[in-house]
Formats: sequence, structure tokens, C-alpha cells
Amino acid sequence: MNNHSKLNDACLNQLFLEARSFNVWQDKRVSEEIIYELYDLLKMGPTSANGCPARFLFIKSKEAKGRLIPCLMEKNINKTMQAPLNVIVSWDNEFYEYFKTLTPNQDWKPFFEGKLEMVHSTVFRNSSLQGAYMILAARALGLDCGPMSGFDNGKVDKEFFSNTTWRSNFICNIGYGDISGLYPRNPRLEFGDACEII
Ligand SMILES: Cc1cc2nc3c(=O)[nH]c(=O)nc-3n(C[C@H](O)[C@H](O)[C@H](O)COP(=O)(O)O)c2cc1C
Repeated sequence: MNNHSKLNDACLNQLFLEARSFNVWQDKRVSEEIIYELYDLLKMGPTSANGCPARFLFIKSKEAKGRLIPCLMEKNINKTMQAPLNVIVSWDNEFYEYFKTLTPNQDWKPFFEGKLEMVHSTVFRNSSLQGAYMILAARALGLDCGPMSGFDNGKVDKEFFSNTTWRSNFICNIGYGDISGLYPRNPRLEFGDACEII
């Protein structure tokens, strides 16, 4: 349970203030145990009606990584091949089939089944959130991330998800980043440009 105390500076730095998007990776593998640990953290982030529509295809093998190449924008190929782990953060268009397990006290399936617009806005919104939970969970476990949307979603879906109800949202490279490949940090919007308190 939340004890309502603020995380210490080291934690805030690791999660946010000093965390970067990586382009170059150390030659250090990501263990299978840590992939399970990563999922066990990210799955606890909140989603609409606890629908948990995101799906995660973890790509480790050389063979499977090779199948990504024709789907990627040229500038994303090298970093993706070099990263020890690539994750296709996806969603399941039939996520509502799991409500029996996910919400045993209320059947949300009729609320979504056959309602394409409702399904699409829900899976896109929530799989994006779950992808963000994954990035923060990875950082919390001492990993680094390099998220990417520079690829052809249609090609990825055809290559990895044909005859399934999964569809790709974005790809995230994961591993132990090499700071030599970082660009200078770009600024963020000031509070007054991005926020209002009313
Ligand atoms: C959804 C998403 C898509 C991105 N797509 C790409 C991409 O295709 N190629 C790339 O090199 N970086 C990509 N980035 C990385 C961003 O440029 C980077 O996160 C941003 O500039 C902030 O960098 P920083 O975290 O190091 O401050 C993407 C980031 C996100 C979150």
C-alpha cells in the first residue's frame, strides 16, 4: 500500500529526471527472469475497467529480430538489431474475452463486443498507457528503453500477428544503454505552456 511518502531523489532520477531514450546498447543480455519481473510490475498499472488490452511480444532471438528489419524505418534498424530485447507493444482487439477473469463481479464484454469504435479507442488508449507503465517498470528494474514509432504497423502486424487479434502500437528497445550514443537532452515544455490549474 502507498505509505504516501515521496520517493527519494535517486529513485526519481532513475525513473524520470536522468532517464533517457537510448540509441546505443551495451553488449549485455536481458535475462528471461527480468522479462517476467517486468511484466509483473507493468501489469499492475491501471486500465479502463481493468480490461488490460495490451499484449507484449518480446523479441530476443536473432531469427525473430531479423523479421523486424523490413518493417523498420532505415534509421531505426541498427539500434533495434543491437538492442538485446525488442518489445512489440500491442493490443488485443478481442481483449473483452478476458473480462470473466479480470472483472469477475461484472461482465463488461457486452459493453465492447461488436462496438468497433469503442473497442479501438479503448485498446489504443490503454495499450499506450500500459506501454508507458512498461517503460517506467523497466527503468525501475535498472533497464533502459528506446521507444519507437518509426516502423510500418501494417507490415509488423502481417509479419507477427497474422491470423491473430493482436495489433501493434509501438516498439520499444530494452537493454542496458550506452551513454556514448545519447544526443544532448532536449528541453521540455514549461508548466505554463503545458498545464493549467483551474
Ligand atoms: C512513442 C514514441 C515514438 C518514438 N519514435 C522514435 C523513432 O521512431 N526513432 C527514434 O530514434 N526515436 C523515437 N522516439 C524517441 C524520442 O525521440 C525520445 O523519447 C524523445 O526525444 C525524448 O528523449 P529523452 O528521453 O532522451 O529525453 C520515440 C519515442 C516515443 C515515446
